[in-house]
Amino acid sequence: MKLGMHTLTEGRGLLFGGDYNPEQWPEEVWVEDAGLMRAAGVNLVTVGVFSWSRLEPEPGKHDFGWLDRVMDLMAGNGIAVDLAIPTASPPPWLGHRWPETLPVDEAGHRLWYGSRNQYCPSSGVYRERSQSITTALAERYAAHPALAMWHVGNEYGEVCHCDESAAAFRTWLRARYGDLDRLNEAWGTTFWSQGYGDWAEIVPPRRAPYIINPTQRLDWWRFCSDELLSHFREQRDVLRAHTPGIPVTTNFMGLFKRCDYFSFAAEQDVVSNDWYPEPGNPKAPALTALTHDLMRGLGGGRPWLLMEQATNGVNWRPHNLPKPPGQFRLESLQAVARGADGLCYFQWRASRFGSERFHAAMVPHAGADTRLHAAVRAHGQELRKLAEVAGEPVPARVAMVFDWASWWALEDRGRPSDRLNATEQLLDYYVPFFERGVSVDVVPPSADLSAYALVVAPNLFLLGDRDAAAMTAYVRGGGVLVVGPFSGVVDPDAHVRTGRFPVPLREVLGGSGEEWLPASEERPVRCRWNGGAPDGAEAGAQAGAQAGAQAGAQAGAQAGAQVGAEFTAHTWTELLRAEGAEVVAEFTEGDLAGSPAVLRHATGEGIAWYVGTMPEPAALAALTERVLADARVSGALPELPPGVEAVRRGDVLFLLNHGTETARVPIPEAAVDLLTGSPAEGSVTLAPRAVAALRP
Ligand code: GLA
Repeated sequence: MKLGMHTLTEGRGLLFGGDYNPEQWPEEVWVEDAGLMRAAGVNLVTVGVFSWSRLEPEPGKHDFGWLDRVMDLMAGNGIAVDLAIPTASPPPWLGHRWPETLPVDEAGHRLWYGSRNQYCPSSGVYRERSQSITTALAERYAAHPALAMWHVGNEYGEVCHCDESAAAFRTWLRARYGDLDRLNEAWGTTFWSQGYGDWAEIVPPRRAPYIINPTQRLDWWRFCSDELLSHFREQRDVLRAHTPGIPVTTNFMGLFKRCDYFSFAAEQDVVSNDWYPEPGNPKAPALTALTHDLMRGLGGGRPWLLMEQATNGVNWRPHNLPKPPGQFRLESLQAVARGADGLCYFQWRASRFGSERFHAAMVPHAGADTRLHAAVRAHGQELRKLAEVAGEPVPARVAMVFDWASWWALEDRGRPSDRLNATEQLLDYYVPFFERGVSVDVVPPSADLSAYALVVAPNLFLLGDRDAAAMTAYVRGGGVLVVGPFSGVVDPDAHVRTGRFPVPLREVLGGSGEEWLPASEERPVRCRWNGGAPDGAEAGAQAGAQAGAQAGAQAGAQAGAQVGAEFTAHTWTELLRAEGAEVVAEFTEGDLAGSPAVLRHATGEGIAWYVGTMPEPAALAALTERVLADARVSGALPELPPGVEAVRRGDVLFLLNHGTETARVPIPEAAVDLLTGSPAEGSVTLAPRAVAALRP
């Protein structure tokens, strides 16, 4: 049984705090820090993420005195500590004495210390030193009253191409394939004379003259993710052995390509994420919501922790826009609305030196007497008013399927177009749900789909037989499935499946294709909604009646999905034919004129959709209305002004205004805004960046 967020939130409510790096400051400042933290309602700090060289200045020689005092200070002030295992940034002595611990890039260059993250995940010495500092910390602090969670490493993601990594890769491959014949078959090594006759010949994908074997690359991605996970696991096991009641986490980075977070999440107690929405990016609110929904999906719906965010501008983009007043609060509350039980920041006090001197913090360089710190304090205090949402679920009837292996396989060199990207497709398909206030869980293909009324797979380039069969059974049993273009193309060995595509879904989709046709950038692809399927208005009205809302009908019609309406698509087309499915939309120009662009197949008890192009946003919104109608799913509210996000967590309806205009949001029932204590009836008015948390 995993230890969840409740072990942290019980008696504390929502968590509020940040990375605390006291080693950068004289001890007098620590005392001021503790007072300011208390005043701001801070109840959790992450300590020691980058402290390895302070904790172990020489191999095997520890200096824990300062950390003892920090832990005591926090305990004395009632602040819990998420104590880090500092393995993300080894001290210079490690690379100096054992250069083989330093990572090597694809071209064979060693990367040096002087920054952070300089380790080879497969290095035996690095692993040994990691275990040793983990054990020392676990022994020393297991019984400390401040200890509330372990934070292993930081933002896992290192990759190394050295000889030791090559040996580990071979071990991993032996476990996967057993013998070389099977490896040669999986890697398709009859192509370009790549046949391997000896395990020793196999190396990581290093810099090569031309395109590297795609299966070798796919296995390398798999291996690198597994290798980091095995490092995490080794440390976690030490920690669990010493402190079975203390949860263990490591912080994620949203849709981060190098680690399969579904496999990581399965091994940790609490899912935590670092998230830095880009100020000025109009897609940031939707991308952020998607990322939060992924965090929930990773934890199987359980509450998660926003481990790092920024109160203001970061320092690592080329031009770092600040956040207007109210922005970080809005972002923090967005995370609460989507299932976060903790809202933490990088970092507590802005550094005076080092590479992140110009990164925002909870206490800026100018000190506590600033508008920013005042806002931090006010936010920490107001989170107490939301204590009751801690632990509450965010129910969703829609799932979006995402798969790391498919992402790795898709985005490699040598494909029809590099403009079809897994995460962009995911976001494009997600936006209309976000805008309609429809909650979504992001799940792996192996998830139990039966809990959902609607399952959307924006791109599953790589699809295994079992997952395809599960999707088929889901539809036959009454589910509604939407599959995006260039899906079901390759098997888990990244071999193209032969036959009319998507081979493993052809039957359930009631249609198939024979050519992938990337579109010219010069002209949009023209399409038309057909009469073959119920139009958006009609379908929406049916669903509306069933779901007790008329919005589907309105939105369907407004979005232009009615029969005969034209729309454009871009980047990608396919030569398809219907084999039992209705042709919901067709291409209207060029060689493809009159051939299907979108198929809808009623089969068994359910309905399967296939989209063979990339519809413009309005057309994707119209399509979404239709599939929502098929699935009889409606949004959190019948009407949602543009820019307003609506999401239900437990009993509470969160409304967040990401737009630049004041919005009036009609609400169906009388409620109390937990943030202001005021009653609300009929509608709520939200200024830009305002949030309401309405409890009936
Ligand atoms: C990441 C890291 C932190 C810090 C921040 C800066 O999230 O985990 O150590 O570098 O970025 O934004």
